[in-house]
Formats: sequence, C-alpha cells, structure tokens
Amino acid sequence: MKLLSFIIIYFLLQVLKCTSSKVKKDITQTLVTEYKNFDTVFPRILNAKTKIGSKSSSSSGIIYRIDSEEDFKSFINNSDLTDKYAIVISAVFVNAEKLVKLEETKKVVGVIVVYDDKPMIKPYSPDKKCPNCEYGMYSGDERANYKWNPHGDGMLFKYFDFPIFGITGNGYSVKDAVLPIIEANIFNKKRKYKNYPLYSIKFDSFMLAPEDTITCLSRKTCDPIGGNSIWSSFSRKIDPNDGKKIVFITAQLDGNSLFHENTIGTNSQIGGIVANLAIADALSRSDIKPEQFQNHIVFMFFNGESFGYGGSQRFVNDISEPFKCLNKNERVNKECSNYASCFNPYMYFDDFKNITLNNIKGIIELNQLTCSGCNNTDSPTYFMHIDDENDSETLKITNLISKVYSVFGNSVPAIPNNNDASNIIVDNNNNIDSSSRNETINKLKRQNTSYNIKPAWEGLIKNLGLPPASSQSFLKKQKIPAVVISDFQTEFTNKFYHSGFDIDSNSTTYDNTVCKTADIIAKSVWLYAQNKEIDYDVNLIPPSVAVNCNYVNELMYCLSHNISCPLAQTLLTSNNSTRQVEGKLSKVSHYSGIFNDYSLNGTLHTYSNFDSWVTNYALITSTGRNTTFPCKYIDDCMKQFEYPNFDELDDESKKKIESMPYSKRKYQCINNFCIEGQAFVHPAYGSGLRYDVFNNKYFVKKEDEATWVESRWSSNSITICFTTSRIFQIFELLVGIVFVILTIIGYYFINTYTKKYLKLA
Ligand SMILES: *[C@@H]1O[C@H](CO)[C@@H](O)[C@H](O)[C@H]1NC(C)=O
Ligand SMILES: *[C@@H]1O[C@H](CO)[C@@H](O)[C@H](O)[C@H]1NC(C)=O
Ligand SMILES: *[C@@H]1O[C@H](CO)[C@@H](O)[C@H](O)[C@H]1NC(C)=O
Ligand SMILES: *[C@@H]1O[C@H](CO)[C@@H](O)[C@H](O)[C@H]1NC(C)=O
Ligand SMILES: *[C@@H]1O[C@H](CO)[C@@H](O)[C@H](O)[C@H]1NC(C)=O
Ligand SMILES: *[C@@H]1O[C@H](CO)[C@@H](O)[C@H](O)[C@H]1NC(C)=O
Ligand SMILES: *[C@@H]1O[C@H](CO)[C@@H](O)[C@H](O)[C@H]1NC(C)=O
Ligand SMILES: *[C@@H]1O[C@H](CO)[C@@H](O)[C@H](O)[C@H]1NC(C)=O
Ligand SMILES: *[C@@H]1O[C@H](CO)[C@@H](O)[C@H](O)[C@H]1NC(C)=O
Ligand SMILES: *[C@@H]1O[C@H](CO)[C@@H](O)[C@H](O)[C@H]1NC(C)=O
Ligand SMILES: *[C@@H]1O[C@H](CO)[C@@H](O)[C@H](O)[C@H]1NC(C)=O
Ligand SMILES: *[C@@H]1O[C@H](CO)[C@@H](O)[C@H](O)[C@H]1NC(C)=O
Repeated sequence: MKLLSFIIIYFLLQVLKCTSSKVKKDITQTLVTEYKNFDTVFPRILNAKTKIGSKSSSSSGIIYRIDSEEDFKSFINNSDLTDKYAIVISAVFVNAEKLVKLEETKKVVGVIVVYDDKPMIKPYSPDKKCPNCEYGMYSGDERANYKWNPHGDGMLFKYFDFPIFGITGNGYSVKDAVLPIIEANIFNKKRKYKNYPLYSIKFDSFMLAPEDTITCLSRKTCDPIGGNSIWSSFSRKIDPNDGKKIVFITAQLDGNSLFHENTIGTNSQIGGIVANLAIADALSRSDIKPEQFQNHIVFMFFNGESFGYGGSQRFVNDISEPFKCLNKNERVNKECSNYASCFNPYMYFDDFKNITLNNIKGIIELNQLTCSGCNNTDSPTYFMHIDDENDSETLKITNLISKVYSVFGNSVPAIPNNNDASNIIVDNNNNIDSSSRNETINKLKRQNTSYNIKPAWEGLIKNLGLPPASSQSFLKKQKIPAVVISDFQTEFTNKFYHSGFDIDSNSTTYDNTVCKTADIIAKSVWLYAQNKEIDYDVNLIPPSVAVNCNYVNELMYCLSHNISCPLAQTLLTSNNSTRQVEGKLSKVSHYSGIFNDYSLNGTLHTYSNFDSWVTNYALITSTGRNTTFPCKYIDDCMKQFEYPNFDELDDESKKKIESMPYSKRKYQCINNFCIEGQAFVHPAYGSGLRYDVFNNKYFVKKEDEATWVESRWSSNSITICFTTSRIFQIFELLVGIVFVILTIIGYYFINTYTKKYLKLA
C-alpha cells in the first residue's frame, strides 16, 4: 500500500515537473532521461581524497545558447543578465577554462554540451598534460610532470559546481533533441533573456555518493571504476616451474572522455587493441606451434587503465606475491559466482598465479598506433620507448625490432590465404553494401609508402623514459625489459586524446600504420619468444607469420564505427553466433565501466562491454585450436567434446552442466565451429581498493594508490519548461526538489537503482 501511494505521488509529480507548460506545448519536453540515454551526465567520480565531475542538483535556469566564441564572451560580460541560466553549448567550445569562467559568473545553474555536427579543428584533450603520471613509475620524479599530452587541460579531473549534461546522439538524433532548444533560444533572445515569459531548462541530477570514496563505499552509493582485463596464451599450460619465461604483449582496453557513453578512442587505445589481436592471429599461423616456443607468450589487455592504471597495477600486485586461496570450495556470499576459482580472496579465475613477476622475459606494449595526427600519414614514423637506454636486455628487443624493420619495413604484409581465423572477414564481405564498407575494401589496394620505426630517444638530448603506459606498472615494481610502441616521439600526435572527438583518423584503413606496425612486432615476437633475438637471419621468418591487414582494417572499423559489423557479430557470443545483438547498436561506449562479473557467463546485454567480448573471442580464435567440428550453440561443443554422454545424464546433472558460464568452458562455438581454447579475466580496478567478500563491500586499503569510484545515481533528466514568471520558476523548482527527494526515498526503499546503469563485465 505504501509502495502504491509512493508510486502514485511519484508519477503525479513527474507530470507536474514542468507545471507551467501551457503555451507552446510542442517545445516543452523532457530531452534526456536515463531511459533514453543512460550515461549522458558528467558523473561524479571520487577517490580517497577528492571528488570530480559535476554537481548534482535540481535546478532551473533560462535557456541561453552559446554557439560561437562571441556568444560566450557576450554571456560572460553582459552585466544585464541577472537571472540564473541554463547554458547550452556546442561541444567544440567546451574546455576547463570556459567551464570555470561560467562557474565564476555565479549565474549558471547547469550546462548542456551538445555534440552537433561542428567539426573540431583546434587540438584539444580534456585529460591531463601528463595522464596518469602521478600513479606511474616516475611519480615523485620530475618526469611525472613531463607534458606528453600538451593539449590537455585536465577538465576530466576537475569538479564543477553545476550539473553537466551531454546530448551525444547516442540512440537518438542530436538534431531532434537540439531543435527545440534552438527555437527556445531564439524566443529568449528576442526577449533579451530577461523579459518573462521565457523558456527555461530544469535539471534533475542526483548523484548518491557523498564526499569521498571511503564514505560512499561503506554506504554502497558508489562502485569501483574498472572492468576485467583479458589475457590468453597459445600455451595450454603455463607452469612456473617449466623453465620457460613469459613474453607479454600488452594493450589497453579502455578509453575515457567527458561523457562516458560518448567515449571512443580510435586513436587513443583502439589501434593498440587491434594490433595486439592481429599479432596473435599472425603468430597462430607459425609452422612451429607457438606453444612449443622456448617462452610462453601472453596476450594481455588491461582494463580500467585510464583511472590510475587500475588493471595493470592490480595484475602486477597479484603476480608479485604467491597467491594464497583461503577458501576454494565454499561460497561465503551469495553475490559471488558459483564458478569462481577462489572464494576468499574472491577470484573468478586463478590461473594468473602461474605467472610470476620474476618469470617475465620482456614486455612489448602497443600504445597509440593509428598515427592519425602524424604530420604525414603517408610516411608514418613509429617510436620505441624504453626506460633505460643502457639496459642491454631491453636493447635486445629494440635492436631486434629495428632489424626486422630493416628487412620487412617497406613491404606490405601479404594476406595469408590459407583457411585461418581471419577468413571470417573475407567470407562475410560479400553480404555488406554500406558505402563505408566499400571504402574500406577499396582501400585494401596497397599503397607504396615509406614507413619507419625507431628508438624514441634517438636524436634527443636525453631519453624521456616511458610515456604513460601499462608497462610502467611492471617497472614500478621491478626492472623488466619493456618496450612501448607508439606513433609519437616526444608528445602525443593524437590531438584529441580522451576527448569525444577522438573518433577517426583521416583514413579508414590502417595498412601502413596499425597493420604494418603489428606485422613488424609479430615477426619480432616470433623470434624473441624463441630466444632467437641475437644472430638470427631475419629473412628466415616464415612468410605465414604476417599480419592480415584485412583483419586489422575490419577490426578497426568494428570497434571504432560499428559493433554490428559482421566480424564483431561472430565474436560477441559463442551461442548461436550469428545472432545479432538486440537493439540498434553501432556506436558503443569504450569507457571501462565499473567493476563487476555479471556477464562472465556469456550473456550479452545492451550495456555489455563489447570491446572485452570481441577481444575475448578474437583471442580464443587465435590462441585456440579449431576442432573443425561445426556448431551453432555452445552446448553443441560441450556435448561433442566435454560430455559425450550428456544425453544419458539425469536432469539435474544436465542443468548443472548447461549453467556452466561460457568463460569457464574449454570449448567455444565461434563462427559456427567449435574452438578449443580459453581466455582469462582478471579484475581491473584501482589498486588502492580491496574487496571484502564476507560483507560484499569494497573498501580503501591504500589511500595513495588509485581508488577511483563512480557514484551511483538516480533521476537524471533535463526538461524544457515555458516559464511565465520568476515566481513560477521557483514553484517548479520546489516541485522538482520534492520529486528528487521522493526519488532518493525510492532508491533506499525499492532500490530503483538498477544494473541498467552499469557496463557489464
Ligand atoms: C569582457 O571582459 C573582460 C574583462 O573585463 C575583457 O578583457 C574583455 O575584453 C571583454 N570582452 C568583451 C567581448 O567585451
Ligand atoms: C595454471 O596452473 C594450474 C595448476 O598447475 C593449471 O591447472 C592451469 O591449467 C594453469 N593455467 C594456465 C593458464 O596455464
Ligand atoms: C609536424 O610539423 C610541424 C610543422 O612543420 C613541426 O613543427 C612538428 O615538429 C612536426 N611534428 C612531428 C611529430 O614531426
Ligand atoms: C646511459 O649512459 C649514458 C652514457 O654513459 C649516461 O649519460 C646516461 O645517464 C645513462 N642512462 C641511464 C638511464 O642510466
Ligand atoms: C575452422 O575450420 C573450419 C573448417 O576447416 C573453417 O571453415 C573455419 O573457418 C575455421 N574457423 C576458424 C575460426 O578458424
Ligand atoms: C559497393 O561495391 C559494389 C561492388 O563493387 C557496388 O555494386 C556497390 O554499388 C557499392 N556500393 C556503394 C554504396 O558504393
Ligand atoms: C615503391 O617505392 C620504392 C621507393 O620509392 C620504389 O623503388 C618501388 O619501385 C615502388 N614500388 C611500387 C610497386 O611502386
Ligand atoms: C584530413 O586530410 C585532409 C587532406 O589530406 C586535411 O585537409 C584535413 O585537415 C585532415 N583532417 C584531419 C582531422 O586530420
Ligand atoms: C552497422 O553494420 C550493420 C551490419 O553490417 C548494418 O546493418 C548497419 O547499418 C551498420 N550501421 C551503421 C551505423 O553503419
Ligand atoms: C544458447 O542459446 C539457446 C537459444 O537461444 C538457449 O536455449 C540456450 O540456453 C543457450 N545456451 C547457454 C549455455 O546459454
Ligand atoms: C539464432 O540466430 C538466428 C539468426 O540471428 C535467429 O534467427 C534464431 O532465432 C536464433 N535461434 C535461437 C534459438 O535463438
Ligand atoms: C549470468 O547471467 C545472468 C543473466 O543476465 C545474470 O543474472 C547472472 O548474474 C549471471 N551469472 C554470473 C555468475 O555472472
């Protein structure tokens, strides 16, 4: 009964929210709600010491549109404007300085950032000038202030005293959403923004987390930022005592931007992900099976890196000390998966314990690789960054890469045409007819370009050390040979690092950038992992170990433009793999989300972390073994290989087997064939946080390490109202406040906060 009356009042108020909308009903409307677009607020993010993001409030202000530098100046300087304003500003004008200026006027109640069609010309990055550097290996050193990202102004790590909403065109048309605002602004402008009636905007934004991580974690009003890192190896078994060392090939999975849902990162992290996958694919064609190499190769994709190297630091910490499972059999809390490898400490997979920090031979990291901002994309130059230019073990890797480059640098990799994993793409191309796909295919005509890859410290007065990179997490703990490959020498060539405009490089093919780089690294790894880095005739590298540019271009297209592309469709699920993901999915968020393990069993949701899934299945396709047994559902493989007597089992046993999470199975059905293989996940969230499995709570263990969390929220919306007078506006506001209070009560009583707001695994 209580619940019913609550719901009735709640909906009554929802109707009343914009009470005065008597005139021009067509304009007054709710533009953005969490139902339309679940992540369009610059959310509140906290760590042990500070909070960042935008204020949550229920407030109302006169619509004022800023569509040019002049509009901005005239708003700031116009002392005639004495009311409270809702600023609607085109995304190309948004930066930290402008937001601070708006804040200083004390006239702004909220900001709406519109991603309209205006091209972004000026280089701009909202991240810091030295991203993540306070968490890296040089923290405390002057190198922690080196400006790798000169266009950065740190906006992402500031707090603003008003709500900031985004209209990003995800799932609906920006034009449709902005048209009423433009109309309302014209109306307001004619009335000099002060003669009522005027159009106003009501902001309702409620972030539940209070001041800092410690408090919100204890109240469960926030969640650790992060996700799952993914790794796999050709080696069926990595044994710490097998005498083999491990070669790590790493990339970063996650990006970041003002509005998480609008995070892409084509030139920030996607090039590295794709190169890493393409290297695994190339090595899978080695005539000597990579699992027989003298060293193991681990392909690693770190998640949660944008927030203090969450994935890599946690992984490095976990492999630096022996893993002791205190409780392997009994679930201590029902939120944990039945299938976890260890219940205390809670670990979904414990295979990482086979890897120890002392056993790593070397790391090759694939950093920013698209060369989109390079001066001359026809003759790109890549750079190898290392920490210590005098370390002979590290120089062995860079010398090897230089040697491979000197032989293969100016030839374009041939497309291997045996029936391998990468044929997926070629087969499906016939079905596609969108013009951008045609463009991609046309570009496969190879260009004759000059390409270069060289030591980053060459020609500099002194070695700058490693740029922001996951490798820093390893080297912070221990000196290990590590080389970071990137498209920049002294500062990012990417002009939009971690910005909503980091969408595309000028070309849609990457034959002479990502593909060529991946090819040189794949060949180098083939030698390095066999201890053939010295005195080996590079010309003897088998031609089959060549990166397939077709695969690279297709993956780049899928991850940066359209996750519904045919290749990704076959790599998103291993059950009925031709199934399209529900909904109109093309643009998906490349922000890591918050840490969770909800979908490790394989269920795909609209808010799934698609990069993780594509990476997971692409890796298994390369590192696994093709049984050539046809399948449609994952259980076909289970019945064929794991439980041949399945049909004779009793119902209970059948159910138990069928409910086995996909990620724990040894056979996947990928592109209609059973593939034997496995990829592993590892938790990726700030290393300063810990999980208390008995109370199902996270807590802060080390305040000086990364402790980033994201606030939970409820009731985010912006509504246009037609306001006849200031008094009426205040009345509206009161209704809004009551509404928000009810929402909060609702949160605590019926828990309206749902998984809907999460990015899943
Ligand atoms: C606005 O005011 C500032 C400081 O008073 C001044 O420097 C600037 O020139 C003014 N701009 C315009 C467009 O009037
Ligand atoms: C790690 O070691 C365990 C125990 O020897 C083994 O069962 C498991 O397969 C290994 N995992 C990997 C990925 O090598
Ligand atoms: C690109 O060209 C500009 C102007 O010629 C030059 O100042 C800059 O150093 C070049 N950048 C790189 C990475 O070569
Ligand atoms: C490497 O050696 C050079 C010359 O001996 C020296 O100047 C430089 O400081 C050394 N670098 C490091 C990182 O030790
Ligand atoms: C597996 O083998 C089949 C039969 O040879 C082939 O058609 C298919 O493309 C292969 N799949 C993968 C992912 O390699
Ligand atoms: C794509 O290419 C095919 C064959 O080359 C052609 O028939 C089709 O018209 C092209 N589609 C577009 C949109 O250009
Ligand atoms: C590519 O360029 C090189 C050097 O500029 C030239 O020698 C070679 O003939 C060119 N190859 C083709 C196929 O155009
Ligand atoms: C794309 O290339 C064209 C011409 O090559 C150039 O004018 C334009 O500035 C480039 N755009 C970007 C975003 O680099
Ligand atoms: C994405 O690809 C799918 C399948 O090829 C296609 O139907 C859809 O129109 C594409 N979406 C966009 C935005 O290009
Ligand atoms: C696979 O998909 C089929 C059809 O949608 C479903 O019945 C089955 O339960 C799924 N299998 C698993 C293991 O999730
Ligand atoms: C499997 O996928 C196909 C193709 O998308 C779809 O038509 C079919 O309904 C799916 N089957 C099941 C049992 O879900
Ligand atoms: C598996 O998926 C279901 C359906 O989305 C979800 O409710 C459940 O929590 C998941 N289980 C695990 C162990 O992740």
